[in-house]
Amino acid sequence: MKLTILFHFVASVLAFPSEKRQSSTNTAVVTLGSNTGSPHHWASGFIYGIPDTLNQIPDHWYTNMGFNYGRAGGAQLGAPARGWIYGRTEYRNRLASFLSNYQTCRKYGAPMILLPHDIWGTDGSNSSTKWPGDNGDWADYDLFIKTLMTDLQAAGALDGLVFDIWNEPDISIFWPRSIQQWVDLYIRTHKLIRATSFMNSVKISGPSMAFRPLASNPWWTTWLSQISGNGTVPEQYSYHLEGETDAVDNDPQYTNASLAALLTTYKLPSRQVNINEYAKFSEQNPAGAAWWISRLERYNFIGLRGNWASGNQLHDLMANLLTKSNPLNYAATDYVSAGEYNVYKYYNLNMTGTRLATSGSTDIALDTYATYANKKVRVLVGSKITATGTWYVKLQGLSQYGLPTSGQLTIQTWGFPGPSVSTPESSYTDLGQYTHTYSGDFLTFPIFQTDITTAWAFEFNTAV
Ligand SMILES: *[C@@H]1O[C@H](CO)[C@@H](O)[C@H](O)[C@H]1NC(C)=O
Ligand SMILES: *[C@@H]1O[C@H](CO)[C@@H](O)[C@H](O)[C@H]1NC(C)=O
Ligand SMILES: *[C@@H]1O[C@H](CO)[C@@H](O)[C@H](O)[C@H]1NC(C)=O
Ligand SMILES: *[C@@H]1O[C@H](CO)[C@@H](O)[C@H](O)[C@H]1NC(C)=O
Repeated sequence: MKLTILFHFVASVLAFPSEKRQSSTNTAVVTLGSNTGSPHHWASGFIYGIPDTLNQIPDHWYTNMGFNYGRAGGAQLGAPARGWIYGRTEYRNRLASFLSNYQTCRKYGAPMILLPHDIWGTDGSNSSTKWPGDNGDWADYDLFIKTLMTDLQAAGALDGLVFDIWNEPDISIFWPRSIQQWVDLYIRTHKLIRATSFMNSVKISGPSMAFRPLASNPWWTTWLSQISGNGTVPEQYSYHLEGETDAVDNDPQYTNASLAALLTTYKLPSRQVNINEYAKFSEQNPAGAAWWISRLERYNFIGLRGNWASGNQLHDLMANLLTKSNPLNYAATDYVSAGEYNVYKYYNLNMTGTRLATSGSTDIALDTYATYANKKVRVLVGSKITATGTWYVKLQGLSQYGLPTSGQLTIQTWGFPGPSVSTPESSYTDLGQYTHTYSGDFLTFPIFQTDITTAWAFEFNTAV
């Protein structure tokens, strides 16, 4: 597999005919000499993926990828750990899973997002079971929130905690009741938390919607219209980007603007955005990871990879960044990296210095994340695509780093293969160097995407 990719790549580069088919539609641009600040590794979080047995996944897997944000709440554990609606023991056992994952996150300095809907037990619920506020009765829910806050405090689990009021209310499995009943829940919970002084340092996130912030979405507009007057604006606006790959709104580029417009309409302040689930399963490969990293870094959105595993696997494998000889064997510890892990590792360990301004191809398929440090430019390139094809990367302004406006530039290429989440890939692959001739102070080179999963990194030395 790797040899085939290498052969295609080199053969294609040598046979590269012309740049005629190249246009803004299929070209991502890196603006050399720009500076958009230090790398934040905004994209290096994931939801669940942490075993409930402390230290089961060795430290280096977390530290090398720069893991920096967690989100959990004991989902999908069976009896006797199904959550609050099944009684106190089942609540305490489910909370114990969260508290263990919380400890793991804090070990690496990562904030941890609490999923109260999971502690409540929505994964075992249906429209016939009890939901908060049914028939106007909030007594049991209020007791749940107060008990939860007290137990979090007693466990020393408030530092770095983000209270994510209710996950995906706009999906009926998580909320089979009305929009207003959920908005009431959100406002009530926010007020209960802020009335509790020991919770002062805890951030609140919401609305954690499955769907995008659009003026046509009544879940969003109903919520937006009632939070300001109630003094219940969260510290983080959260929502998910796990929609169709080619949907134009399923993209930070779209939602950064669409949320800003809604905030203006409803006279709300701007806040840190947290995409606390990003990438659908088919985008969870090296190419997709590079695309999401590029987007999240550009918009300075916190991002946590979605997790499409279920049962025990939900609580393992770092949201499919790792695999093992039998991925279904929860207790096994023979962890190896899947291909996507190596993208996060390179992003964390190698892409240091300052971030460069970039723009994605306007067909929204290809994007780049680039850094400059110690006379070296590094460009991570990936596509969120469902088809193979040819795209381009344009390096604009080579003279910014003391290079001539025309001449030759030698670029080192790394490939990040990863055909599936269960294919072990120990590292990225050295695809060698290629010397390009350029003029006009820019260089455009092609990306031959002969499969839909491989990501690329390009490195070149500068004069200053
Ligand atoms: C709804 O959930 C409850 C509790 O888990 C279960 O006892 C009941 O059978 C479920 N009802 C339906 C219609 O699935
Ligand atoms: C406050 O929230 C409630 C819902 O809990 C809503 O009915 C009311 O209109 C809100 N008040 C304002 C001033 O937005
Ligand atoms: C994101 O939206 C904000 C608010 O409109 C805007 O100021 C900012 O420039 C946007 N970010 C990018 C990278 O376009
Ligand atoms: C990335 O950084 C690591 C740690 O410093 C180093 O071992 C590795 O060689 C670097 N990789 C590249 C491609 O520079």
